Amino acid sequence: MRIFVTGALGFVGQRLLPKLESHGHWVSGCDRDTVDVTDASVVMQAIKAAQPDAVVHLAAISFVPEARQNPALTREINVGGTRNVIRALQESAPKARLLLVGSSEQYAPVSPSSGLLDETTPLLGVGPYAESKTEAEKMALEASAEGLDLVRVRAFNHTGPGQEPRFVVPDFSRQVALIEQGAEAVLRVGNLESARDFLHVDDVVEAYVRLLQPDVEAGAYNVSSGRATQIGEVLESLLHQTETKISIERDPSRWREADARVGDSSRLREKTGWRPTYSMNQIIEELLHYWRKRVRQDREKPER
Ligand code: GDD
Repeated sequence: MRIFVTGALGFVGQRLLPKLESHGHWVSGCDRDTVDVTDASVVMQAIKAAQPDAVVHLAAISFVPEARQNPALTREINVGGTRNVIRALQESAPKARLLLVGSSEQYAPVSPSSGLLDETTPLLGVGPYAESKTEAEKMALEASAEGLDLVRVRAFNHTGPGQEPRFVVPDFSRQVALIEQGAEAVLRVGNLESARDFLHVDDVVEAYVRLLQPDVEAGAYNVSSGRATQIGEVLESLLHQTETKISIERDPSRWREADARVGDSSRLREKTGWRPTYSMNQIIEELLHYWRKRVRQDREKPER
């Protein structure tokens, strides 16, 4: 298949493109340096030139606090960008499948003990990020009623090497690595009470690859592990893996209301045979290893 990816240089895009190529697909992509998704005519030209059989729309503002600080920009990119991609597909590649990447944030938070969120759970998540993703999804759903082949992914948290260190697992891992290599032995945290459903980015990418197969039914799919991990457990696991004595400090600038979201991915599993392959421990160990190496490399880099 010919596959076009927006946000190709982002955390997920960088893992997805080589994976799609390894499956024999023809892959092209864009990022903000080449195609600004908020520019309708540029998006139109890019899709026209690519003539894709499928588009994976990753380009978005993805950090929840950033969306809260910039609601207008978030709407412009997350909703307006999606609108531009849909219109371009309708005009230039009407048979292509759109894999629209939404988020577990679209669901209202629930207590982890009250069960898993499935795709029929109402999309009542609030805040600029969640609302932008839900508005984009609604718009795409309208287009699907007019013929767009649409897969609506609701991705739960995913992490791995290369994710920006403002997200929680790389954030804590990086801080541990910095402290081990001489920084002040204080690790700054937000609210440790929240719980999330974490996947390794490669498992998420594998889910997207499978959902692009034309014989997989269109519709909504959770991409989730079904495991609840408290943020405090992530911290504890990291502290177990270091010999260095570290004190923990609450940082008000990182604090957010506690909430939890854990997803039921039965539909994805049944329709595609997908399974997550990484345990939470493997995910955390890999990140700590990655950040130890990266911090060391950054220190050894000659000053310019
Ligand atoms: N980033 C960060 N830093 N988060 C912290 C910290 C900290 O020091 N301390 C506690 N947390 C908590 C946050 O309050 C949140 O409950 C949880 O850790 C995860 O935060 P993030 O890693 O920033 O991710 P997120 O859950 O807000 O959003 C991510 O997952 C969504 C899917 O569930 C993003 O990747 C979104 O783009 C994605 O849609």
